[in-house]
Amino acid sequence: MKMPVIKIAVLTVVALAVLGGVVWLAESHISRTASIGSQVSSSQTVAGVQIGGDFTLINQDGEEMTDRDFLGSYRLVYFGFTYCPMICPTELQKMVTAMELMGGKADNITPLFITIDPERDTPELVKEFVESFHPRMVGLTGTQEQIDEVRDAYRVYASKVQVAGMEGYDMNHSSYTFFMGPDGDLLTLFNTGSTPQDIAREVTAIMDAS
Ligand code: NI
Repeated sequence: MKMPVIKIAVLTVVALAVLGGVVWLAESHISRTASIGSQVSSSQTVAGVQIGGDFTLINQDGEEMTDRDFLGSYRLVYFGFTYCPMICPTELQKMVTAMELMGGKADNITPLFITIDPERDTPELVKEFVESFHPRMVGLTGTQEQIDEVRDAYRVYASKVQVAGMEGYDMNHSSYTFFMGPDGDLLTLFNTGSTPQDIAREVTAIMDAS
């Protein structure tokens, strides 16, 4: 199969983004507008780097959940934290708006929020947070070790930042929305430059083609 140049370019950008982690992802809420939201791969391997995998976490009702609980369902996955003042709520709202644009097709998608701040994000806080976005949104937290593992699996960058004059701390973290297939494979990903229309269009196209 011949790969169109644009697809190779996209794969290269994604590979650089993933492999070049520190430089690319160390910015708070990646806000580059270069679109790498095109479909990157039909498998979970992007240029040899696997994204996704097994996890065991705690949902907003305090129950243990693993990746296997989501088998058979498409998922839109976002990593963030409930104290985030701006970007995380914006990105989750975009996810939900995209699902609304998709109509009945969105019934096959589970919206998923995973915290990168388990120290503060208790199941109770996560529950309140996800319920404010979508009645079916699943919110996951866990021990620091469990969160570190799932972050590693999804190549998500996150670190605490002390802000002068601010009580507590802020979090720097990468901001991608992962679209995963029913088997847990990465199908594509979106960044802060993707609009709800972009997400709805690409997700619909991928689901129609499968
Ligand atoms: Ni955030």
